[in-house]
Amino acid sequence: MYAVFRNQRSILEQEVVMKVILLGAPGAGKGTQAQYICERFGIPQISTGDMLRAAVKAESALGLKVKEVMSSGGLVSDETIIALVKERILEDDCKKGFLFDGFPRTIPQAQALRDGAIDVDHVVDIAVADEDIITRMAGRRVHPGSGRTYHLVYNPPKVEGKDNETGEDLIQREDDREDIVRKRLDIYHSQTEPLVNYYKSWSQEDVQNAPAYNYIEGVGTVEDIKQKIFASLS
Ligand code: AP5
Repeated sequence: MYAVFRNQRSILEQEVVMKVILLGAPGAGKGTQAQYICERFGIPQISTGDMLRAAVKAESALGLKVKEVMSSGGLVSDETIIALVKERILEDDCKKGFLFDGFPRTIPQAQALRDGAIDVDHVVDIAVADEDIITRMAGRRVHPGSGRTYHLVYNPPKVEGKDNETGEDLIQREDDREDIVRKRLDIYHSQTEPLVNYYKSWSQEDVQNAPAYNYIEGVGTVEDIKQKIFASLS
């Protein structure tokens, strides 16, 4: 009997699929929370920002194409991003689901997901006011190899200036300068924030097929926000 139950449980575990979109302004804490969600559900983090930064670092054709627009805080074209994501989700590690961090970022990107019948279970919208974001970005440090994110005051690494896992140096992102952060926030409000209503209305119109829309107040400790997100995904 116990063995049967164990077998059933392992079948159920294999069938759990979790597909999440993390929405939120630049600096809202998407990357920080993505690590916990991915660990909890055993799904890969698909951060279009990290993918593009890796391409820039490798000086690939894609990297050379997007370098300038990224360092100035602008958005990469929808066409480029949609192609990148469509290819990425075909990889084997996405069979149990995935977490989109920083995608979709425009209505056409969201519509491409919907038109491509790429189902999503939850949209988690992390809300933080612009002025809090400016403060956060000034203190942000990142590990370029993994995308792990820290903050000098709110989420410091164990050893100053070093990544917790590898001990490698942390860096400050070029687009974290205050004037560029302000431009990224303007672009967020004009091009990405409309996605909040897009997902809210869709979830009200079509409860069966639309992703659930979860609003999360993103100010507080990293741990508190993590618990609120976990509760919204259960
Ligand atoms: P991307 O890398 O996606 O940047 P972003 O969305 O602007 O988001 P960030 O990574 O800056 O912030 P985050 O929300 O992950 O915050 P974090 O957790 O680090 O994109 C970069 C660029 O790539 C774009 O500008 C664009 O050019 C291009 N791009 C990417 N995707 C694209 C797309 N789909 N379409 C077109 N172009 C695209 O947290 C921030 C700081 O706050 C950290 O220091 C952290 O430690 C700290 N922190 C986190 N939580 C808290 C808390 N609760 N309290 C205090 N501090 C906290």
